[in-house]
Amino acid sequence: MAHQPIPFTPNLSVKPDVVAFFDQPTNTISYIVKDPNSLSCAVIDSVMDFDYASGAISYEGADRIIGHIEQHGWTLEWLIETHVHADHLSAAPYIQSRLGGKLGIGDQICVVQDTFGKIFNEGTAFQRDGSQFDRLFRDGDSYQIGTMTAHALFTPGHTPADMIHVIGDAVFVGDTLFMPDGGSARADFPGGDARTLYRSIQRLLSLPDAMRLFMCHDYGPNGRDIQWETTIAEQREHNIHVGHGTTEDEFVKMREDRDRTLSMPKLIIPSLQVNMRAGQLPPAEDNGATYLKVPINGLTKPKE
Ligand SMILES: [Fe+2]
Repeated sequence: MAHQPIPFTPNLSVKPDVVAFFDQPTNTISYIVKDPNSLSCAVIDSVMDFDYASGAISYEGADRIIGHIEQHGWTLEWLIETHVHADHLSAAPYIQSRLGGKLGIGDQICVVQDTFGKIFNEGTAFQRDGSQFDRLFRDGDSYQIGTMTAHALFTPGHTPADMIHVIGDAVFVGDTLFMPDGGSARADFPGGDARTLYRSIQRLLSLPDAMRLFMCHDYGPNGRDIQWETTIAEQREHNIHVGHGTTEDEFVKMREDRDRTLSMPKLIIPSLQVNMRAGQLPPAEDNGATYLKVPINGLTKPKE
């Protein structure tokens, strides 16, 4: 089956200013995307600082983003999550409480909430309808950042709810592709699927050659410095997992073989419980304190 066509015409004459913030503990890159023709901006995939060993949370990374926006007098219109991250906790509610803006994610978040609501035995108090977010994007949906029209594109596979965001000539790819020498994101989380990911990547790569692509993660493979920006043309030519016309079956075998060797991300258990709540912590208990659960054997991979 071929990938779905792109349901809008990309406008490469719009060139947003992109400011990247690298979070070293989780190898995540967060972005401010700024309209060159107004003061409006969006923040994509922000990170809360979390020290699992002590249970301490803090916001140094988010404060850097807030400081940059305040210092330039910009207006935050959107906080975008490309998906429910399993490797870091979102700082979107904290940034929103300081700067305003609407929080958006893909509408298939409901599937993710249902899956992890069960794994963490959340009960009926935890809504699984995406109502914790301000906007649930469907495939092809558009939204405004000042004078720029942004589009969400449904690109599942890494999780069932991934959206990439196309804003002028810039594409925020979330966890679909990594830099060309990093390949692609894993597809073995609950609801992930390598074949689906391949089709989503082909859809992404059907965008125009010159588009700038911004990664959500980089791990500096083979000792190189951290990088986060590439192009469609570079990915199509050089990506080690999907470049050079790799077939769907070749990709699925490679991805599934590789995923079997990967351990779970260090912060997956706290990340899921917070990110499925749009970055909010679980409700406080009757002593006023807040807790996260550890589901014993709840996230182990099926034995083959
Ligand atoms: Fe991810």
